[in-house]
Amino acid sequence: MSQDWWRHAVIYQVYVRSFADSDGDGVGDLPGIRSRLAHLRDLGVDAVWITPFYASPMADGGYDVADYRAVDPQFGDLGDVRALVDDAHALGIRVIVDIVPNHSSDRHAWFQEALAGRGRERYVFREGVGDRPPNDWESVFGGPAWTRVADGSWYLHLFAPEQPDLNWELPEVREEFRDVLRFWLDLGVDGFRVDVAHGMVKAPGLPDIGHADQLTLLGTAPLPFFDQDGVHEIHRDWRAVVDSYPGERVLVAEAWTPSAERTALYLRPDEMHQAFNFHYLTAPWDRDALRSVIDSSLAAVAPVGAPTTWVLSNHDVQRHVTRYGGGEKGVRRARAALALMLALPGSVYLYQGEELGLPEVLDLPDEVLQDPMWERSGHTERGRDGCRVPLPWTTAGPSLGFGTGGSWLPQPPEWAKLSVEAQAGDQDSMLSFYRTALRARRENPATGVTVTWVDGPEGVLWFERDGVACALNLSGAVVELPDPGPVLLASSYYGVRDGQVLLPPDTALWWRTAAEAVTSDFA
Ligand code: GLC
Repeated sequence: MSQDWWRHAVIYQVYVRSFADSDGDGVGDLPGIRSRLAHLRDLGVDAVWITPFYASPMADGGYDVADYRAVDPQFGDLGDVRALVDDAHALGIRVIVDIVPNHSSDRHAWFQEALAGRGRERYVFREGVGDRPPNDWESVFGGPAWTRVADGSWYLHLFAPEQPDLNWELPEVREEFRDVLRFWLDLGVDGFRVDVAHGMVKAPGLPDIGHADQLTLLGTAPLPFFDQDGVHEIHRDWRAVVDSYPGERVLVAEAWTPSAERTALYLRPDEMHQAFNFHYLTAPWDRDALRSVIDSSLAAVAPVGAPTTWVLSNHDVQRHVTRYGGGEKGVRRARAALALMLALPGSVYLYQGEELGLPEVLDLPDEVLQDPMWERSGHTERGRDGCRVPLPWTTAGPSLGFGTGGSWLPQPPEWAKLSVEAQAGDQDSMLSFYRTALRARRENPATGVTVTWVDGPEGVLWFERDGVACALNLSGAVVELPDPGPVLLASSYYGVRDGQVLLPPDTALWWRTAAEAVTSDFA
């Protein structure tokens, strides 16, 4: 297995509840993932990241962990994890698992003890101010970040009340998580995606924020509960644990910070290997915006020597086909966006279903919604269920091949046409394009760390890296480029006339640069 594999890996996110269901209960599970590993092999990904499958009452889809060393019976058992890791490894696919250290479930033995008045120091309990919570912090899911218990004191939960924040000032908490890391590393996992890696440490004294609508500040402004410098000490400690195992195991930070420079701090050589690039994910479909976020992303990681990552979708955000305008336009842009992302140096994260061009499901009936955000926001935020609808594998059958029963969120009937079965044999399908694009990247690896911008027609994003040029037309009209010769990858059809390529809007092309000819041909 190659050295520094993670620096340019393509990593596929499996949202376990919605990938494949082996036992017909309508919820995806570990044997389901195992049964569909061939799909990931055919796609050509290097690794899979699996969202939490630990024992959980599912107040937040498994991000509320009741036992960090146990598998929830809904998803399988430890034997299933071992079998999945072994099968994936046999296919050359590494396995990254989620770990949720900021908070446990309220059903975790520690919190149950805390409610009974023992070991409260493992969480963040405080006295209120009269009848009010200890401070003005709001939960990310809406409403106050504090809940009162029977004896009148309050505990902190940055997310749902069923997700009490752990007290990372306490050595016992740190030791427990080191041990949890070792438990899964011993079992053979290749690394961890660290949930809310920016949240474990809070500002001393838990100061008020003094802002009425704190949700608007998330990821944009400094907050006393996110991105505190103290989190880095924990990450250094974890890196030492991970590095004590052979085989280049990795840590990936979910860190929402106000800037690419702040995110880069998580990537210092003795901290995490990678962090999700949410600044890229949230960039609009606009040439200057994309160019600037690519530049700032690459510049931010350069001083720490870490790879950039690129991501368009995950289980927390609206699917990008929809974000980019939906319908044919959204699909066309999504194809071009993939070509762009795979052309860039660094590592790429894909979210299950994007290879099928799945859109966000915007019309789920109210009564099926499960995201805690829906209730917590007083039914004003519909939450994240629309990007979590189970995958369609076949054109017919119960839950379109997701399982033998139903699916925990209803699939739109028109997803039959988007199923793996429907797309696999169609050269023009999104799935075929993903396979082709990933192959093109493997054959033309992005091993460098920089891109060189090329001045082209207005509205065209054009750069070169490691012998490959990528041009994406964001101008809204057809543009002409000098015909570069054989094309390595095209996100949509394009024309050639009189030595010129006619590049339609929202289309990306790759071609190989003849290094010495580059400047004279295209400058
Ligand atoms: C992360 C997860 C999200 C979860 C939250 C709380 O942001 O990606 O799904 O709700 O943490 O654990």
